[in-house]
Amino acid sequence: MADANFTPGFRSLDEEVTDRTLPVEGSFPPWLSGQLIRNGPAKFEGGGQRLTHWFDGLAMPRKYAFDGGEVRYTNRFLRTESYEDAAAGRPIGQFATGVGGLAKALGWLRRLGPPEPTDNANVHVARLDGGFVALTEVPKWVRFDSETLATRGEFTFQDLATHHMITAHLVEDPHRGEHVGHALTFGRTHEYRLFRIPDGTRRREEFAAIPTDSPAYVHSVGVSEDHVTLVETPLRIDVLRALSPFTEGFFDLLDWQSERDTTFYVVSRDTGKVAVEATAPPFFTFHTVNAFEDGGDVVVDLIAFEDDGVVTALRLDDLAEQGFAGVPPGRLERYRIAPDGTIERRRLYDGGIELPDVPRQVRTRPYRYAYGQSTDREGANELVKVDTERGTAREFWERELYVEEPCVVSRPDADAEDDGVVLAPALDVAAEQSLLLCFDAATLAELGRARVPHPIPFGFHGRFFGS
Ligand SMILES: [Fe+2]
Repeated sequence: MADANFTPGFRSLDEEVTDRTLPVEGSFPPWLSGQLIRNGPAKFEGGGQRLTHWFDGLAMPRKYAFDGGEVRYTNRFLRTESYEDAAAGRPIGQFATGVGGLAKALGWLRRLGPPEPTDNANVHVARLDGGFVALTEVPKWVRFDSETLATRGEFTFQDLATHHMITAHLVEDPHRGEHVGHALTFGRTHEYRLFRIPDGTRRREEFAAIPTDSPAYVHSVGVSEDHVTLVETPLRIDVLRALSPFTEGFFDLLDWQSERDTTFYVVSRDTGKVAVEATAPPFFTFHTVNAFEDGGDVVVDLIAFEDDGVVTALRLDDLAEQGFAGVPPGRLERYRIAPDGTIERRRLYDGGIELPDVPRQVRTRPYRYAYGQSTDREGANELVKVDTERGTAREFWERELYVEEPCVVSRPDADAEDDGVVLAPALDVAAEQSLLLCFDAATLAELGRARVPHPIPFGFHGRFFGS
């Protein structure tokens, strides 16, 4: 049965709003100053066809600006080639989407032509070299104006690195003053590449290359003080399928090879050498939560799935049929990797959880609290705060309210790790209205909610940029 409740979360939104002051119930703290900018899909048709996968919707950055307790909202589609294609009734890519780029990348390898990846940058955002950038998993990022969200054209790096796929999850390390990311290059030998982007530059400095005969789909890496841990799961990219006429999208290249283990490559951030290579039983992950060094061990917390079923479950047809009930739950797991390659695994929260965040100051460091979207309830998504030391959790939920990815914002000069607020967008499916919720990060008590004038389709990721 189709779950009508889900319709607003996967329904196209055409309306664009600029700098609209939102009505607030309760209050947002006066010290909260800056903007939460999120990214996600907002149009699910192109060329007269409904897109097949949630990941394919057209990018619409959305912004909540905070000043003196006031909340102002702006949303605007990226004006990209994909957007123009959809507007002109031409089909747009599918996540699928990357396949055109990947096939062309392979063509490029065979000297048939240059790669032309899609520019529908709908996954995440970052501030690089003072500018704002919408990110996707192919190297075609898009600049936008943080005030108006107006599109400013393609983002170009000041380097000569050649990547065929690149992460949309740059890890901003405030302690070292750099973003860390990973990319994939296809060739005679495929390679994972690790790079840093020093603050104030648009330059990727590659510091490690890990060869692989069968590249995995790696969505994010774990960054600790001294290491980057890349988790190679059994979900592999069958690059030769890109040349098949039956391949419609990147989705079709993914191949769950259940006989494989999952490999952790722990790479030194200073030397680029693989310090530890360790294997664990198979699982799949999109998101690392945090990583840190602990007495010679590297600890990586991530959201693990039993297999790749989640990727299929996020197809729009399946979501329309079953809603989130058909999406397998992710689990918050801690992998402790010793220098000798032994791995210890521990579950930190027994409920379903995804879209994690930790306070900025504990990123790459030992930490206690992880926040995320909890997915166990029927007819709602919760907000959860997990105490990783005590093995306890606080949860917030409200009937028919679907909480999205939370974002923790610390109070200026906070001493305690959880002194601050959690900002969480949510969709009230009954009222067909989106909200921005504000919680005390220590107690998860609701402080305020701002009402958005329309239902925003479910988004992916965002960041808070302080002013
Ligand atoms: Fe992600």
